[in-house]
Amino acid sequence: QTNASWGGRFAEATDAFVAEFTASIGFDARLYRHDIEGSIAHATMLAKCNVITEQEQQAIVDGLKAVQSDIENGDMQWSVALEDVHMNVEAALTAKIGTVGKKLHTGRSRNDQIATDIRLYLRDEIDHLASELTRLQAALIELAQTEANTIMPGFTHLQTAQPVTFGHHLLAWNEMLQRDYERIIDCRKRVNIMPLGAAALAGTTYPIDRTITAELLGFDRPSENSLDSVSDRDFAIEFTQVGALIMMHLSRMSEELVLWASAQFDFIDLPDRFCTGSSIMPQKKNPDVPELVRGKTGRVYGHLMSLLTLMKSQPLAYNKDNQEDKEPLFDTIDTLAGSLRAFADMVPHIKAKKDSMYQAAAKGYSTATDLADYLVKKGLPFRDAHEVVGESVAFGIEQSKDLAELTLAQLQQFSDLIEQDVFDVLTLEGSVAARDHLGGTAPNQVLAACLRAQQTLKAR
Ligand code: ARG
Repeated sequence: QTNASWGGRFAEATDAFVAEFTASIGFDARLYRHDIEGSIAHATMLAKCNVITEQEQQAIVDGLKAVQSDIENGDMQWSVALEDVHMNVEAALTAKIGTVGKKLHTGRSRNDQIATDIRLYLRDEIDHLASELTRLQAALIELAQTEANTIMPGFTHLQTAQPVTFGHHLLAWNEMLQRDYERIIDCRKRVNIMPLGAAALAGTTYPIDRTITAELLGFDRPSENSLDSVSDRDFAIEFTQVGALIMMHLSRMSEELVLWASAQFDFIDLPDRFCTGSSIMPQKKNPDVPELVRGKTGRVYGHLMSLLTLMKSQPLAYNKDNQEDKEPLFDTIDTLAGSLRAFADMVPHIKAKKDSMYQAAAKGYSTATDLADYLVKKGLPFRDAHEVVGESVAFGIEQSKDLAELTLAQLQQFSDLIEQDVFDVLTLEGSVAARDHLGGTAPNQVLAACLRAQQTLKAR
């Protein structure tokens, strides 16, 4: 049996495998709510433009709502023979309300319909992801406030560099997510344009009013060009780019959490309920959540490349290739939603092991730059100061002592500019407090930055 929606010109039934192969219902059924929302708006517009009668519109709208209830009550039989969500919904509508259901598709094609559905769906998902980003940012800022005075080593090349505050480190993560939030909101602007009315590719001969449907569906405006409308998937690529950056950021945070939770670093404790054990090693508590998020980053990078390649060299206008946009897009959304949720739930329960962080910062000559700056303030050119401190560090390594543990006499071997007050700058507290300017790691700067970041969230 050929497909009822387009079988007219066919002499033989679709090959059973081809029907299976070309169907998208297996993955596009999740668009049903937005498909129905779009159809209700379309029917409403058709009635306003006198293409269908008001009674017909009423019957269609009631019927679509009934189909939606059926789907939500688990009473819908999705059929592969009907290919996709659009034709499944339309067939269910016609089964319910009879012939008038067949008028719904007047002046519309599945090409503009699917483009509309994805945009409506993605718009909702972007709103959800944006609120999850906000939730995670709020958690980071709150933890940063609590840990504004907590000293830890800052790293470059993963070698101890200079002491920083844990709060400052957490706010660095917040900055990454702040940019992601701005990007996702910017992406939403280009998602929120309505393709409906482009029909198959050239527009339609009915006297439609696209501004009515755009307004009913909350789109900013109808799209400009019908050919572009049905073929454009830039918005999906752009969203996946934003998603790739979010995952890249989460993977960096994950990597640090995994390192810090190890016995070797011992900087943090992750809550038991976000970790799992080993079936063989009874002592183990593994940081699975950050590890898995780090791993999932690869899927989203892959989806970005899939979508870019999907669109490469496609001639105008719609091509069946575009059906392949859904699985990468949906998996990107699901991966982001899961990863952000896991992080937003976990971050408030990260426990800083302050002593251990402090001890780590005290090792590794993290205040060497402070000693150099001290000498510069006493009149030595920076290059010479660098040399003096380098020699002091070498001496310390030889003696197995940190700079603050050397005696004044030992330090004075390297420069007679060094006096008793040197010990103020060699302390970790002195070192972080001295970086007291906008963007610096000093605790009071961290607290001020937390307040600004909270204001930014409040303004959303
Ligand atoms: N399932 C199709 C897709 O995802 C809907 C549009 C089909 N249009 C067509 N002319 N075959 O793109």
